[in-house]
Amino acid sequence: MPGSLLETLKGKVTSQRPVWLMRQAGRYLPEYRALRAEKGGFLDLVYDSAAAAEVTLQPIRRFGFEGAILFSDILIVPYAMGQDLRFVAGEGPRLSPTLVDHALDELSAVPERLEPIYRTVTMVKEQLSSETTLLGFAGSPWTVATYMVAGQGSRDQHIARKQAYADPQAFGELIQQIIDITVTYLRGQIDAGAEAVQLFDSWAGSLSPAQFERWVIAPNAQIVERLKESHPDTPIIGFPKGAGAKLPAYARETGVDALGLDETINPEWAARELPDNLPVQGNFDPLLLLAGGAEMEQGARRILSAFEGRPHIFNLGHGIDKETPIAHVEALLAAIRQPQG
Ligand code: CP3
Repeated sequence: MPGSLLETLKGKVTSQRPVWLMRQAGRYLPEYRALRAEKGGFLDLVYDSAAAAEVTLQPIRRFGFEGAILFSDILIVPYAMGQDLRFVAGEGPRLSPTLVDHALDELSAVPERLEPIYRTVTMVKEQLSSETTLLGFAGSPWTVATYMVAGQGSRDQHIARKQAYADPQAFGELIQQIIDITVTYLRGQIDAGAEAVQLFDSWAGSLSPAQFERWVIAPNAQIVERLKESHPDTPIIGFPKGAGAKLPAYARETGVDALGLDETINPEWAARELPDNLPVQGNFDPLLLLAGGAEMEQGARRILSAFEGRPHIFNLGHGIDKETPIAHVEALLAAIRQPQG
């Protein structure tokens, strides 16, 4: 039997590792594509709590992952802060007005936009076996700010990086507002039934060391501190993608309970350099899962053995690719779940 994901987050070491995959509810699953087509747009799916709960459960039914992640998106926070949100087919998300042309105080918050998400969490919790850990999440302030400023994804996040240098005070106010709503939002998810939460910082890797301290470490430390005051027993996973050599400082200074590692991190280095006993999550390359084959099984074994003796949750280093064959996910799970000697 694999260990429970929640217990691993609390420091338990097991030889068979709990598994979940980032973006496990999504377009590589035919049952997701069918429900998505029926509901219309991505946001229609997110805002239909019964359908969003169903999408959250689809990968659990099919693969028996030890963790279920709430089906929603990190851009629900800017939407609740008053930006308009659209997902344009083939182009990705669009937020307006952008904060390049408009001041933050032109937005009026719409906190009701968070309520249906809490309902989804409760509906999932009611249907989930107690052996599966329910994960809530939010984007980290820096990553959310990059979309709010530019209105969309931007190469190397250059628009937000420039704005953070050009007007650090205004940028700091934006970050503080995102922190405040994120704390409320994560508390709401936990109260609705989430057993652990993950902070996704997909674009942490584009910042210089000083800016990383200011816009990644300090805001995440504040979120962790405030969540610990209200919900001391709920583990928090930090995932600063691309942080590389800054990971040990991130782990020590933010106080996260567990650290998500992307696929660029050498697992032997992480096992050596990260604080002893800190639970880690990761860090299989999603492209190796897409490719499949014997290399894939070897790659999985290398990660398992590097983190032997440490609390470890097997996951990808980033989201699963939408072209990934179901058979490759099954083969990966078989390799991870093989009894170990
Ligand atoms: O992991 C899960 O299965 C839970 C749901 C989840 C989604 N997005 C669903 C989604 C989570 C945790 C996210 C996080 C997210 N969203 C991040 C951080 C993690 C990462 O991948 O870096 C970011 C940066 C976003 C913003 C976002 N949402 C983008 C850039 C896009 C478009 C790109 C794309 O993959 O289409 C989305 C859309 C999105 N979010 C989809 C899904 C399943 C695809 C929507 C569709 O069905 O067309």
